[in-house]
Amino acid sequence: MGTEIYYFSGSGNSLHVARELQKRIPKAKLIPIVSLLNNENIKTSADTVGFVFPIHLAMIPRPVMEFLPKLNLNSAEYIFAAVTRIGTRHRAFKDLEKILKKKGKGLDAFFNLNMASNDPKSKEFKAATADQIAEIELEVQNKLDYIQDIVINKKIVLQKDTKFTVAIPGFSVLSPFLPFFNKMFNYDFYADSKCTGCRTCEKVCLSGKIKMIDAKPVWQKDVKCFFCYACLNYCPEKAVQIKSSRFFKVYTEENERYSHPYANADDIAGQK
Ligand SMILES: Cc1cc2nc3c(=O)[nH]c(=O)nc-3n(C[C@H](O)[C@H](O)[C@H](O)COP(=O)(O)O)c2cc1C
Ligand code: SF4
Ligand code: SF4
Repeated sequence: MGTEIYYFSGSGNSLHVARELQKRIPKAKLIPIVSLLNNENIKTSADTVGFVFPIHLAMIPRPVMEFLPKLNLNSAEYIFAAVTRIGTRHRAFKDLEKILKKKGKGLDAFFNLNMASNDPKSKEFKAATADQIAEIELEVQNKLDYIQDIVINKKIVLQKDTKFTVAIPGFSVLSPFLPFFNKMFNYDFYADSKCTGCRTCEKVCLSGKIKMIDAKPVWQKDVKCFFCYACLNYCPEKAVQIKSSRFFKVYTEENERYSHPYANADDIAGQK
């Protein structure tokens, strides 16, 4: 029966974790969530099922939320999730439990992995340096050894939260409203004058929102964004920007970009 690991990743952090788990868990198969989004009924054939994805706005990302209700988990005897984040609290554990409960299932193991930020919007953002990436990787590898032992031996371990490195002020008050904010969120992307028309952003866009028109990327208004930030982080010219709004100043023009050192644009696009 084996293991199936369903993953979603915008800049390679979760992809790295998924690939490392595949190496460590015998007969594990990696399945990109984005590739299944157009299927209405998706059936797992594994007895162990894992989910690996990043935290977006303290929640499960949009495409993963779309995918989970469609997944038939009848064959699953052991279910685990490993989420990557920069370190805030989040509601992914609770939300995942709620979805699984509707299918008569529950989480057997849940882990958080703190990794580098792939969100260059804020003034505070600093792309992780090589030293920081090496330090993070050391912790990630230790955690993966731990996860391997738990999953292979089908132990029950629910690490709802580990170390918070970044706190969201007033999180518990805001938490119930986050799904509403998420639905409302929409950023205005554009390509600045540095754009060479190389098409990388169109290639990596996981929702198909970007179309090249007259050799320039255009973000289609009627296509949902997955907020994966692959377009921002993989543009070789750092030409993809988000417009500031009246309420929210964005610093993408000033900031560097981040993508995981072991994941390139082809790896990200390969999820489609
Ligand atoms: C739109 C967006 C929102 C994010 N929100 C959070 C958050 O609420 N808490 C957190 O710890 N990290 C947050 N992050 C950081 C990512 O979860 C983290 O960098 C993750 O490891 C990225 O994984 P990926 O490369 O697989 O997409 C956010 C990133 C993005 C792009
Ligand atoms: S990836 Fe950057 S340079 Fe290439 S088309 Fe998109 S915006 Fe232009
Ligand atoms: S527009 Fe950018 S952030 Fe939105 S889905 Fe496409 S690549 Fe991801």
